[in-house]
Amino acid sequence: MRIIFATSNEGKMKEIRAILKDIDIELLSLKDLGLNPDIDENGNTFEENAIIKAKTIMELTGEIVLADDSGIEVDYMNKAPGVYSARFMGEDTSYTIKNQFIIDQLKSAKEEERTARFVCAIACAFTDGEIITRRGVIEGQIARNICGSHGFGYDPIFYVPEYHCTTAEMSPDQKNEISHRGKALREIKEVLKKHL
Ligand code: IMP
Repeated sequence: MRIIFATSNEGKMKEIRAILKDIDIELLSLKDLGLNPDIDENGNTFEENAIIKAKTIMELTGEIVLADDSGIEVDYMNKAPGVYSARFMGEDTSYTIKNQFIIDQLKSAKEEERTARFVCAIACAFTDGEIITRRGVIEGQIARNICGSHGFGYDPIFYVPEYHCTTAEMSPDQKNEISHRGKALREIKEVLKKHL
């Protein structure tokens, strides 16, 4: 069975292939298909955005399509940047600047007010029009300093108390095991197994 993952991000594809490797599917990215669609991710929730992407590509290709949408919710900032995580302070602003801005926003926050989470919603659009979604979440706190060089985006300020480090200080395998994306993907894998 051929399944398309609606992303051109090779880093994400590597993570996705590793998690889905034990099911019998041919997984293709938009890059593999030579597609570069301009999709307006104008949903209000992670699920809505994942559905917009999965449905658009399913209608374009006539194949089963998976798509994800993810971001960080900072409780002290009323759950911002949320679905705007990639666009927060402008797409071209460096994460060093974005991360320092968030740390500064929380300078008067008490310890218990520093909570945050990474959220990932994955949608699967089947060719008969059925759409299912699954959500994965990892709870943590906003660190007091930028720390670690692995990962990407907000990883250097996302502190996971159980592991005493940020997700940017974890190895890719360690992060996959506990991350929002890893959790959502493992749930989607169960759905696909039933479908197969
Ligand atoms: P998208 O799901 O590819 O649109 O990504 C949304 C944005 O959320 C990314 O550009 C990052 O800013 C942020 N984000 C999502 N997942 C992670 C993660 O695992 N680590 C750090 N930042 C993340």
